[in-house]
Amino acid sequence: MEIIIQSDPQSASQVGARIIAGLIKKKPDAVLGLATGSTPVLLYRELIRMHREEALDFGRVTVFNLDEYIGLSPEHSASYRHFMYENLFRHVNLNPERTFIPDGMAKDIPRFCLRYEAQIRQAGGMDLQVLGIGTDGHIGFNEPSSSLASRTRIKTLTAETLADNARFFDCPENQPRHVITMGVGTIMEASRVLLLAFGEKKAAAVAEAAEGPVTAMHPASVLQFHPAATFLLDEAAAAGLKKHQYYRWVYDHKPDWQQS
Ligand code: GLP
Repeated sequence: MEIIIQSDPQSASQVGARIIAGLIKKKPDAVLGLATGSTPVLLYRELIRMHREEALDFGRVTVFNLDEYIGLSPEHSASYRHFMYENLFRHVNLNPERTFIPDGMAKDIPRFCLRYEAQIRQAGGMDLQVLGIGTDGHIGFNEPSSSLASRTRIKTLTAETLADNARFFDCPENQPRHVITMGVGTIMEASRVLLLAFGEKKAAAVAEAAEGPVTAMHPASVLQFHPAATFLLDEAAAAGLKKHQYYRWVYDHKPDWQQS
C-alpha cells in the first residue's frame, strides 16, 4: 500500500490525475472505474484541464461507475449519472457508449447487477479504480458488514451515510435508502486502486483503513490485501496515521526507478 500525503486536496488530485493520464497514454483503451461524491471533483477537473490543454484523449477509454441510487432517473440532480455527466463526461471526449453506470431504474435489478459484472469482464476488467471513502469506511456503497468477496448488488445505506449524503438532496424524503454498488470483490479485481480522501472528517476512517485490522466492519481496510493500492490524502485526512512521517519520507525520496 502506498500512502501519498500532499498539503492540500488540489495537489493530491493533481498527483492522481497524473497517474490516470500516464495510464491512458500507455494504454489508450484503458478501463477506468470511477467514483462520485465531493472528493473526486478536483481530480475530474484536472483531467478536464489535461484534455483541453494537453490533448489527453479519452476517445477509446471505457468507464464503469461504482454505484447509483435505486429509483433515481439519470436526469435527477442527485443521480450519479447526472453527477458524472456534469463533472466529467460532458467536458471530455469519452464515447457515451463506453460510459457505464448502474441503472437505478432497472426493472429487474438483480439481473442488471449480473449484467454489469459481465460487462466489466467483457471490457477486460478495470485497469484502475478511483475510490473515495465514507466516514464509516465504505467504498462504493459497500457499508460495514459487506462481504469482502461481494459482487455488484443491492445494498441498504446506513444512517451515517444517509446523513453524510443528505446535502445532495433538496428534500430528505427523496433520498433513496437502497443503492446498486459494485461489490468489494469487484473493486479488488481492478489492477490498480486510487483512494482519495480529504479533510479531517475522513481522518479516522483513513487511519482504520490503512493501519487498522482488515475487517468487513471497515470495508476500505480490505485494500491492505490489494497488491497496488494507493491512498492520496491531504494533511487533514492523514492526521490520524501512526506512520505519517514515514509515508511522507518514502514519497519525497521515491527513487526514479520506482514506477509512479
Ligand atoms: C458516497 C459514494 C462513495 C463516496 C462517498 C464519500 O457514499 N457512494 O463512493 O466515496 O460518498 O463521499 P464524499 O467524497 O462526498 O465525502
